[in-house]
Amino acid sequence: MSEPLLEIENLHLDIRTADGLAEILQGIDLSVESGETVALVGETGCGKSITAKSIMGLLPETATVPTGSLQFRGEDLLALPEKERNAYRGKQMGMIMQDPMTALNPVFTVGDYMTDVMKWQGTHKLGLSDWLSSKFTSNDSLRERAIEMLEEVQIAAPERVFESYPVELSGGMRQRVLIATALLSEPELLIADEPGTALDLTTEAKILELLQDLIDEKDMSVIYITHDLSIAKYISDTIYVMYAGEIVERAPAEELFDNPQHPYTIGLLDSIPSLSKPIGEGIAGELPDTLDRPQNCQFADRCPYSEPECREIYPARRETAPDHEVGCHLYTPEDAAAFDGELVDIGTPPAREQLENET
Ligand SMILES: Nc1ncnc2c1ncn2[C@@H]1O[C@H](COP(=O)(O)OP(=O)(O)O)[C@@H](O)[C@H]1O
Ligand code: SF4
Ligand SMILES: [Mg+2]
Repeated sequence: MSEPLLEIENLHLDIRTADGLAEILQGIDLSVESGETVALVGETGCGKSITAKSIMGLLPETATVPTGSLQFRGEDLLALPEKERNAYRGKQMGMIMQDPMTALNPVFTVGDYMTDVMKWQGTHKLGLSDWLSSKFTSNDSLRERAIEMLEEVQIAAPERVFESYPVELSGGMRQRVLIATALLSEPELLIADEPGTALDLTTEAKILELLQDLIDEKDMSVIYITHDLSIAKYISDTIYVMYAGEIVERAPAEELFDNPQHPYTIGLLDSIPSLSKPIGEGIAGELPDTLDRPQNCQFADRCPYSEPECREIYPARRETAPDHEVGCHLYTPEDAAAFDGELVDIGTPPAREQLENET
Protein backbone atom coordinates (compact mmCIF):
# COMPACT_ATOMS: atom_id res chain seq x y z
CA MET A 1 0.00 0.00 0.00
CA SER A 2 1.24 3.51 -0.71
CA GLU A 3 2.41 5.81 2.06
CA PRO A 4 -0.54 7.12 4.11
CA LEU A 5 -1.42 10.79 3.73
CA LEU A 6 -1.42 11.18 7.50
CA GLU A 7 0.28 8.89 9.96
CA ILE A 8 0.14 9.43 13.71
CA GLU A 9 2.31 7.15 15.80
CA ASN A 10 2.37 6.81 19.56
CA LEU A 11 1.22 10.40 20.10
CA HIS A 12 1.23 11.42 23.74
CA LEU A 13 -0.01 14.79 24.91
CA ASP A 14 -0.02 16.40 28.34
CA ILE A 15 -1.68 19.61 29.46
CA ARG A 16 -0.46 21.67 32.40
CA THR A 17 -3.33 22.58 34.68
CA ALA A 18 -3.59 24.33 38.05
CA ASP A 19 -4.02 20.89 39.64
CA GLY A 20 -1.06 19.24 37.93
CA LEU A 21 -0.12 17.59 34.67
CA ALA A 22 -3.11 16.07 32.88
CA GLU A 23 -2.20 13.13 30.65
CA ILE A 24 -4.64 13.64 27.81
CA LEU A 25 -3.41 11.47 24.92
CA GLN A 26 -1.70 8.21 25.74
CA GLY A 27 -0.16 6.93 22.53
CA ILE A 28 -2.54 7.54 19.63
CA ASP A 29 -1.87 5.59 16.42
CA LEU A 30 -4.00 6.60 13.48
CA SER A 31 -3.44 6.67 9.75
CA VAL A 32 -5.42 8.06 6.86
CA GLU A 33 -4.85 6.89 3.32
CA SER A 34 -5.42 9.14 0.35
CA GLY A 35 -9.16 9.28 -0.35
CA GLU A 36 -10.03 7.44 2.86
CA THR A 37 -12.60 8.58 5.41
CA VAL A 38 -11.85 7.52 8.94
CA ALA A 39 -14.17 8.08 11.87
CA LEU A 40 -12.92 8.80 15.36
CA VAL A 41 -15.56 7.89 17.91
CA GLY A 42 -15.66 8.02 21.66
CA GLU A 43 -17.46 9.72 24.50
CA THR A 44 -17.08 13.37 25.40
CA GLY A 45 -13.75 14.09 27.04
CA CYS A 46 -11.86 11.09 25.59
CA GLY A 47 -9.56 13.36 23.52
CA LYS A 48 -11.05 13.50 20.02
CA SER A 49 -10.87 17.28 19.59
CA ILE A 50 -7.38 17.45 21.10
CA THR A 51 -6.25 14.81 18.60
CA ALA A 52 -7.69 16.93 15.78
CA LYS A 53 -6.05 20.07 17.14
CA SER A 54 -2.71 18.26 17.39
CA ILE A 55 -2.93 17.49 13.68
CA MET A 56 -3.88 21.07 12.87
CA GLY A 57 -1.22 22.58 15.15
CA LEU A 58 -3.89 24.40 17.15
CA LEU A 59 -2.96 23.24 20.64
CA PRO A 60 -3.19 25.41 23.75
CA GLU A 61 0.14 26.81 25.02
CA THR A 62 -0.16 24.63 28.10
CA ALA A 63 0.06 21.47 25.97
CA THR A 64 3.24 19.46 25.44
CA VAL A 65 3.94 16.42 23.33
CA PRO A 66 6.42 14.30 25.30
CA THR A 67 6.67 11.70 22.57
CA GLY A 68 5.15 10.62 19.28
CA SER A 69 5.16 11.53 15.63
CA LEU A 70 2.66 13.08 13.31
CA GLN A 71 3.56 12.75 9.66
CA PHE A 72 1.81 14.33 6.73
CA ARG A 73 3.01 12.96 3.40
CA GLY A 74 6.04 11.59 5.22
CA GLU A 75 7.00 14.93 6.81
CA ASP A 76 7.03 15.13 10.61
CA LEU A 77 4.74 18.03 11.40
CA LEU A 78 5.85 18.21 15.03
CA ALA A 79 9.43 18.89 13.93
CA LEU A 80 8.49 21.72 11.56
CA PRO A 81 8.99 25.37 12.49
CA GLU A 82 5.74 27.18 13.30
CA LYS A 83 5.62 29.00 9.97
CA GLU A 84 5.92 25.90 7.83
CA ARG A 85 3.48 24.11 10.05
CA ASN A 86 0.96 26.87 9.46
CA ALA A 87 1.49 26.50 5.74
CA TYR A 88 0.16 22.94 5.94
CA ARG A 89 -2.82 24.15 7.89
CA GLY A 90 -3.47 26.85 5.35
CA LYS A 91 -3.40 24.76 2.25
CA GLN A 92 -3.37 21.01 2.77
CA MET A 93 -5.63 20.67 5.79
CA GLY A 94 -9.00 22.14 6.64
CA MET A 95 -10.99 21.75 9.82
CA ILE A 96 -14.62 22.22 10.66
CA MET A 97 -14.67 23.13 14.34
CA GLN A 98 -17.03 21.51 16.79
CA ASP A 99 -19.31 24.44 17.60
CA PRO A 100 -20.75 26.48 14.73
CA MET A 101 -22.21 28.97 17.21
CA THR A 102 -18.86 30.14 18.52
CA ALA A 103 -16.53 29.38 15.60
CA LEU A 104 -17.68 32.48 13.71
CA ASN A 105 -16.79 35.90 15.07
CA PRO A 106 -20.04 37.84 15.60
CA VAL A 107 -18.54 41.21 14.59
CA PHE A 108 -17.53 40.10 11.07
CA THR A 109 -19.78 39.29 8.15
CA VAL A 110 -19.47 35.89 6.51
CA GLY A 111 -17.81 37.64 3.58
CA ASP A 112 -15.21 39.36 5.82
CA TYR A 113 -14.47 36.04 7.47
CA MET A 114 -14.10 34.03 4.29
CA THR A 115 -11.99 36.61 2.46
CA ASP A 116 -9.73 37.00 5.52
CA VAL A 117 -9.19 33.24 5.58
CA MET A 118 -8.28 33.31 1.88
CA LYS A 119 -5.84 36.18 2.38
CA TRP A 120 -4.23 34.32 5.29
CA GLN A 121 -4.02 31.14 3.25
CA GLY A 122 -2.52 33.13 0.41
CA THR A 123 0.35 34.31 2.57
CA HIS A 124 1.16 30.72 3.47
CA LYS A 125 0.56 28.80 0.33
CA LEU A 126 2.28 31.10 -2.15
CA GLY A 127 5.87 32.15 -2.71
CA LEU A 128 6.88 35.76 -1.99
CA SER A 129 6.22 37.15 -5.45
CA ASP A 130 2.94 35.32 -5.62
CA TRP A 131 2.15 36.61 -2.18
CA LEU A 132 2.90 40.19 -3.24
CA SER A 133 0.63 39.81 -6.22
CA SER A 134 -1.99 38.21 -3.98
CA LYS A 135 -1.93 41.39 -1.89
CA PHE A 136 -3.40 42.99 -4.94
CA THR A 137 -5.80 40.18 -5.66
CA SER A 138 -8.99 42.05 -6.07
CA ASN A 139 -11.58 41.72 -3.39
CA ASP A 140 -13.90 40.94 -6.27
CA SER A 141 -12.14 37.70 -7.11
CA LEU A 142 -12.04 36.67 -3.44
CA ARG A 143 -15.74 37.46 -3.21
CA GLU A 144 -16.36 35.41 -6.32
CA ARG A 145 -14.51 32.42 -4.89
CA ALA A 146 -16.33 32.68 -1.53
CA ILE A 147 -19.72 32.83 -3.24
CA GLU A 148 -18.80 29.89 -5.43
CA MET A 149 -18.03 27.84 -2.29
CA LEU A 150 -21.24 28.98 -0.58
CA GLU A 151 -23.08 27.69 -3.64
CA GLU A 152 -21.20 24.40 -3.41
CA VAL A 153 -22.49 23.86 0.09
CA GLN A 154 -25.98 24.42 -1.31
CA ILE A 155 -26.73 27.79 0.19
CA ALA A 156 -29.64 29.09 -1.84
CA ALA A 157 -28.88 32.82 -1.56
CA PRO A 158 -25.07 32.93 -1.38
CA GLU A 159 -24.79 36.69 -2.05
CA ARG A 160 -27.12 37.49 0.83
CA VAL A 161 -25.32 35.07 3.17
CA PHE A 162 -21.96 36.59 2.12
CA GLU A 163 -23.18 39.97 3.43
CA SER A 164 -24.74 38.53 6.62
CA TYR A 165 -23.53 38.53 10.19
CA PRO A 166 -23.48 35.14 11.98
CA VAL A 167 -26.33 36.20 14.26
CA GLU A 168 -28.57 36.53 11.20
CA LEU A 169 -28.04 32.87 10.24
CA SER A 170 -29.49 29.62 11.57
CA GLY A 171 -27.22 26.98 13.11
CA GLY A 172 -27.41 24.84 9.96
CA MET A 173 -26.52 27.81 7.76
CA ARG A 174 -23.53 28.71 9.96
CA GLN A 175 -22.35 25.11 9.74
CA ARG A 176 -22.56 25.31 5.94
CA VAL A 177 -20.50 28.52 6.04
CA LEU A 178 -17.86 26.75 8.15
CA ILE A 179 -17.80 23.81 5.75
CA ALA A 180 -17.45 26.19 2.79
CA THR A 181 -14.61 28.01 4.56
CA ALA A 182 -12.78 24.77 5.40
CA LEU A 183 -12.96 23.76 1.75
CA LEU A 184 -11.83 27.11 0.27
CA SER A 185 -8.26 25.94 -0.23
CA GLU A 186 -9.34 22.51 -1.50
CA PRO A 187 -7.51 20.70 1.31
CA GLU A 188 -6.31 17.14 0.87
CA LEU A 189 -7.30 16.35 4.44
CA LEU A 190 -10.52 17.57 6.00
CA ILE A 191 -11.15 17.18 9.71
CA ALA A 192 -14.80 17.47 10.68
CA ASP A 193 -15.22 17.70 14.44
CA GLU A 194 -18.77 16.65 15.35
CA PRO A 195 -20.22 18.87 12.63
CA GLY A 196 -23.82 17.95 13.42
CA THR A 197 -23.81 17.76 17.18
CA ALA A 198 -24.97 21.28 17.96
CA LEU A 199 -27.81 21.05 15.42
CA ASP A 200 -31.29 19.56 15.52
CA LEU A 201 -31.62 16.06 14.06
CA THR A 202 -33.13 17.07 10.71
CA THR A 203 -30.48 19.74 10.10
CA GLU A 204 -27.78 17.34 11.24
CA ALA A 205 -28.98 14.76 8.70
CA LYS A 206 -28.87 17.38 5.91
CA ILE A 207 -25.36 18.48 6.88
CA LEU A 208 -24.22 14.87 6.95
CA GLU A 209 -25.63 14.24 3.49
CA LEU A 210 -23.97 17.38 2.19
CA LEU A 211 -20.62 16.36 3.64
CA GLN A 212 -20.92 12.87 2.21
CA ASP A 213 -21.62 14.33 -1.25
CA LEU A 214 -18.67 16.73 -0.98
CA ILE A 215 -16.34 13.97 0.22
CA ASP A 216 -17.32 11.76 -2.74
CA GLU A 217 -17.10 14.59 -5.24
CA LYS A 218 -13.75 15.97 -4.10
CA ASP A 219 -12.14 12.64 -3.25
CA MET A 220 -10.70 14.12 -0.05
CA SER A 221 -9.22 12.27 2.87
CA VAL A 222 -11.35 12.88 5.93
CA ILE A 223 -11.21 12.42 9.67
CA TYR A 224 -14.79 12.52 10.85
CA ILE A 225 -15.19 12.94 14.59
CA THR A 226 -18.49 11.85 16.04
CA HIS A 227 -20.05 10.50 19.18
CA ASP A 228 -22.54 8.57 17.03
CA LEU A 229 -21.43 5.13 15.86
CA SER A 230 -24.24 4.86 13.32
CA ILE A 231 -23.02 8.07 11.66
CA ALA A 232 -19.48 6.67 11.73
CA LYS A 233 -20.70 3.57 9.91
CA TYR A 234 -22.60 5.63 7.35
CA ILE A 235 -19.74 7.97 6.49
CA SER A 236 -16.46 6.16 7.05
CA ASP A 237 -14.30 3.38 5.63
CA THR A 238 -12.49 2.76 8.90
CA ILE A 239 -13.58 3.37 12.48
CA TYR A 240 -11.22 4.16 15.33
CA VAL A 241 -12.78 3.77 18.76
CA MET A 242 -11.14 6.02 21.30
CA TYR A 243 -11.28 5.67 25.06
CA ALA A 244 -9.47 7.84 27.61
CA GLY A 245 -6.81 9.14 25.23
CA GLU A 246 -6.15 5.79 23.55
CA ILE A 247 -7.34 3.97 20.46
CA VAL A 248 -8.87 0.79 21.86
CA GLU A 249 -10.16 -0.67 18.61
CA ARG A 250 -9.73 -0.08 14.89
CA ALA A 251 -11.49 -1.89 12.08
CA PRO A 252 -13.17 -1.34 8.72
CA ALA A 253 -16.62 0.13 9.45
CA GLU A 254 -18.65 -2.96 8.46
CA GLU A 255 -16.30 -5.29 10.30
CA LEU A 256 -16.54 -3.23 13.49
CA PHE A 257 -20.32 -3.58 13.46
CA ASP A 258 -20.27 -7.28 12.49
CA ASN A 259 -17.51 -8.28 14.87
CA PRO A 260 -17.02 -5.73 17.68
CA GLN A 261 -14.39 -6.92 20.13
CA HIS A 262 -13.41 -4.40 22.78
CA PRO A 263 -15.88 -4.44 25.68
CA TYR A 264 -16.16 -0.65 25.32
CA THR A 265 -17.08 -0.90 21.63
CA ILE A 266 -19.63 -3.58 22.46
CA GLY A 267 -21.09 -1.32 25.14
CA LEU A 268 -21.31 1.55 22.67
CA LEU A 269 -23.04 -0.61 20.07
CA ASP A 270 -25.50 -1.81 22.65
CA SER A 271 -26.50 1.77 23.40
CA ILE A 272 -27.11 2.63 19.74
CA PRO A 273 -30.92 2.77 19.99
CA SER A 274 -30.50 5.66 22.40
CA LEU A 275 -27.91 7.54 20.42
CA SER A 276 -29.58 10.84 21.06
CA LYS A 277 -27.77 10.47 24.39
CA PRO A 278 -24.08 11.32 24.47
CA ILE A 279 -21.97 8.31 23.65
CA GLY A 280 -20.79 6.33 26.65
CA GLU A 281 -23.80 7.30 28.73
CA GLY A 282 -25.23 3.80 28.30
CA ILE A 283 -22.14 2.34 29.98
CA ALA A 284 -22.05 2.67 33.76
CA GLY A 285 -19.21 4.72 35.21
CA GLU A 286 -17.14 7.54 33.77
CA LEU A 287 -13.85 8.30 32.09
CA PRO A 288 -10.82 8.10 34.38
CA ASP A 289 -9.32 11.27 35.83
CA THR A 290 -6.57 12.49 33.49
CA LEU A 291 -4.59 13.67 36.55
CA ASP A 292 -4.66 10.24 38.15
CA ARG A 293 -4.94 7.54 35.54
CA PRO A 294 -5.48 3.91 36.46
CA GLN A 295 -2.59 1.56 35.78
CA ASN A 296 -2.73 -0.29 32.46
CA CYS A 297 -6.27 -0.83 31.12
CA GLN A 298 -8.07 2.50 31.31
CA PHE A 299 -11.46 0.80 30.94
CA ALA A 300 -10.97 -1.60 33.86
CA ASP A 301 -13.27 0.29 36.26
CA ARG A 302 -16.20 -0.02 33.84
CA CYS A 303 -15.47 -3.34 32.19
CA PRO A 304 -17.66 -6.36 32.93
CA TYR A 305 -14.67 -8.63 32.13
CA SER A 306 -12.15 -6.83 34.30
CA GLU A 307 -9.64 -9.02 36.14
CA PRO A 308 -6.85 -7.92 38.51
CA GLU A 309 -4.37 -8.65 35.72
CA CYS A 310 -5.98 -5.96 33.55
CA ARG A 311 -4.40 -3.43 35.90
CA GLU A 312 -1.08 -5.24 35.94
CA ILE A 313 -0.39 -5.81 32.26
CA TYR A 314 -0.93 -3.16 29.63
CA PRO A 315 -3.47 -4.36 27.02
CA ALA A 316 -1.45 -3.41 23.95
CA ARG A 317 -3.38 -3.45 20.66
CA ARG A 318 -3.05 -6.61 18.61
CA GLU A 319 -4.44 -7.70 15.26
CA THR A 320 -7.25 -10.20 15.70
CA ALA A 321 -8.51 -10.26 12.11
CA PRO A 322 -7.16 -8.71 8.91
CA ASP A 323 -7.04 -4.96 9.47
CA HIS A 324 -8.79 -5.31 12.84
CA GLU A 325 -6.95 -4.34 16.02
CA VAL A 326 -8.08 -4.38 19.61
CA GLY A 327 -6.39 -3.38 22.86
CA CYS A 328 -7.83 -5.85 25.35
CA HIS A 329 -6.56 -8.92 27.15
CA LEU A 330 -9.57 -10.94 26.01
CA TYR A 331 -7.73 -11.26 22.73
CA THR A 332 -4.15 -11.86 23.70
CA PRO A 333 -2.44 -14.63 21.83
CA GLU A 334 1.13 -13.70 22.77
CA ASP A 335 0.52 -12.48 26.33
CA ALA A 336 -1.86 -15.29 27.20
CA ALA A 337 0.76 -17.16 29.18
CA ALA A 338 1.48 -14.11 31.32
CA PHE A 339 -2.20 -13.49 31.85
CA ASP A 340 -3.64 -16.02 34.25
CA GLY A 341 -7.10 -14.51 34.73
CA GLU A 342 -9.99 -16.72 33.72
CA LEU A 343 -11.07 -14.99 30.59
CA VAL A 344 -12.80 -16.20 27.44
CA ASP A 345 -10.85 -18.43 25.09
CA ILE A 346 -8.23 -16.64 23.07
CA GLY A 347 -9.53 -15.97 19.60
CA THR A 348 -13.17 -16.31 20.62
CA PRO A 349 -14.51 -12.78 20.65
CA PRO A 350 -17.19 -12.23 23.27
CA ALA A 351 -20.39 -12.03 21.28
CA ARG A 352 -22.65 -9.16 22.07
CA GLU A 353 -25.31 -11.61 23.30
CA GLN A 354 -22.75 -13.16 25.59
CA LEU A 355 -21.93 -9.80 27.11
CA GLU A 356 -25.64 -9.08 27.53
CA ASN A 357 -26.14 -12.36 29.36
CA GLU A 358 -23.27 -11.75 31.69
CA THR A 359 -24.10 -8.22 32.74
N1 LIG B 1 -7.17 23.69 26.98
C1 LIG B 1 -7.33 22.66 27.82
N2 LIG B 1 -6.85 22.72 29.09
C2 LIG B 1 -6.99 21.67 29.95
N3 LIG B 1 -7.59 20.51 29.63
C3 LIG B 1 -8.09 20.40 28.38
C4 LIG B 1 -7.99 21.46 27.41
N4 LIG B 1 -8.59 21.05 26.26
C5 LIG B 1 -9.04 19.79 26.51
N5 LIG B 1 -8.73 19.42 27.77
C6 LIG B 1 -9.03 18.11 28.40
O1 LIG B 1 -8.62 17.11 27.50
C7 LIG B 1 -9.50 16.01 27.52
C8 LIG B 1 -9.96 15.72 26.11
O2 LIG B 1 -10.73 16.82 25.63
P1 LIG B 1 -11.33 16.85 24.16
O3 LIG B 1 -10.27 16.51 23.19
O4 LIG B 1 -12.02 18.15 23.99
O5 LIG B 1 -12.39 15.66 24.23
P2 LIG B 1 -13.51 15.27 23.18
O6 LIG B 1 -13.37 16.10 21.95
O7 LIG B 1 -13.32 13.80 22.96
O8 LIG B 1 -14.82 15.52 23.90
C9 LIG B 1 -10.62 16.39 28.48
O9 LIG B 1 -10.33 15.81 29.73
C10 LIG B 1 -10.53 17.88 28.56
O10 LIG B 1 -10.96 18.35 29.82
S1 SF4 C 1 -8.12 -5.44 29.25
FE1 SF4 C 1 -9.44 -6.28 30.83
S2 SF4 C 1 -10.46 -4.50 31.78
FE2 SF4 C 1 -9.56 -3.85 29.85
S3 SF4 C 1 -11.20 -3.99 28.39
FE3 SF4 C 1 -10.07 -5.91 28.27
S4 SF4 C 1 -11.05 -7.31 29.72
FE4 SF4 C 1 -11.79 -5.24 30.15
MG1 LIG D 1 -14.66 17.41 21.06
